[in-house]
Amino acid sequence: MLILGIETSCDETGVALYHSEQGLLAHALFSQVDMHADYGGVVPELASRDHVRKLLPLCDDILLSAGKTRADIEGIAYTAGPGLVGALMVGGSVAHALGFALGIPVLGVHHMEGHLLAPMLEPEPPAFPFVALLVSGGHTQLVLVKGIGEYSLLGESVDDAAGEAFDKTAKMLGLDYPGGPRVAALAEKGTPGRYRFPRPMTDRPGLDFSFSGLKTYTLNTVNQAKQSGGLDDQTRADIALAFESAAVDTLVIKCRRALEQTGSQRLVVAGGVSANRRLRSALDAMAAKLRAGVFYARPEFCTDNGAMIAYAGCQRLKAGQRDGDRILAVPRWPMDKLPPIGEPRAEGLVD
Ligand code: KG4
Ligand code: ZN
Repeated sequence: MLILGIETSCDETGVALYHSEQGLLAHALFSQVDMHADYGGVVPELASRDHVRKLLPLCDDILLSAGKTRADIEGIAYTAGPGLVGALMVGGSVAHALGFALGIPVLGVHHMEGHLLAPMLEPEPPAFPFVALLVSGGHTQLVLVKGIGEYSLLGESVDDAAGEAFDKTAKMLGLDYPGGPRVAALAEKGTPGRYRFPRPMTDRPGLDFSFSGLKTYTLNTVNQAKQSGGLDDQTRADIALAFESAAVDTLVIKCRRALEQTGSQRLVVAGGVSANRRLRSALDAMAAKLRAGVFYARPEFCTDNGAMIAYAGCQRLKAGQRDGDRILAVPRWPMDKLPPIGEPRAEGLVD
């Protein structure tokens, strides 16, 4: 079954063609980062308008590069949420219009399920069950995954998401949006041990996270350095490293706890922050001690992309799930509301 995947939940227009037997045939991404950088973050209305401009031409590009035509597509998967409602509506409208014109099924996919399943596109995918750490701009969650749609939340951030903390730290250090990769690059030049930042909520039991205290600690450190006239390039790099080390350690401690608590031998790490190199090597070292395996998507599929939506949608479309006539755009949508694969989707999803 040949599936067109469409991702427009935020500031990237992502499309892909995934075939249930042949795998990923083509994918393309247009990032709006340069457009939003002037504003220091995503401007929702500009995002929606740009998705309108880019989406269909990108679909035509990947069809051409895969040697396919629209008539070859057998199903369409689009991101139905969570995300910016206007941006979601663009992907949903195009998906439903194409699906209607071609007479093929269409399915709204959960963005975080897309991230969660992205490592399945790699040559050695994880087997179920596994523990998943989802770390993106809007989510920090530990989830026990028994199968597609069989998710139990083990813990989550009670305030900021990990990616959000990276983005805010970047702003404090005068770095452009999106901040995660830039903080990581600056941290490379940092002096280990000059600052030590707190590892929030690691000294008490449980699997929840909190990043807002770490953010405040970072802000206070930046302000103190400014007041003493010492916020030079080396100090900025030292602060970036101290922040990144604290965020990474916190995530690693909770992942270790989740593996020990569930007895799982497999950890899947997905979402934009899973592209972070320091996080990957710290998780690999921790898991090696527990003789557990860690699974990631390739870096370009850690951040938003169409391939993960095509893959997740393909699994559910193959099992017979599909939208009715209604376009789904669900800005807030808990992932544990998703049905297991093969079960019909609950009515009233949008409420
Ligand atoms: O998954 P994603 O592309 O979009 C959401 O669904 O939110 O994640 C974006 C987040 C941003 O906060 C970005 O700063 C962060 O992932 N990010 C990183 C890195 N690459 C992206 N954070 C730390 N290190 C990175 N290398
Ligand atoms: Zn995402």
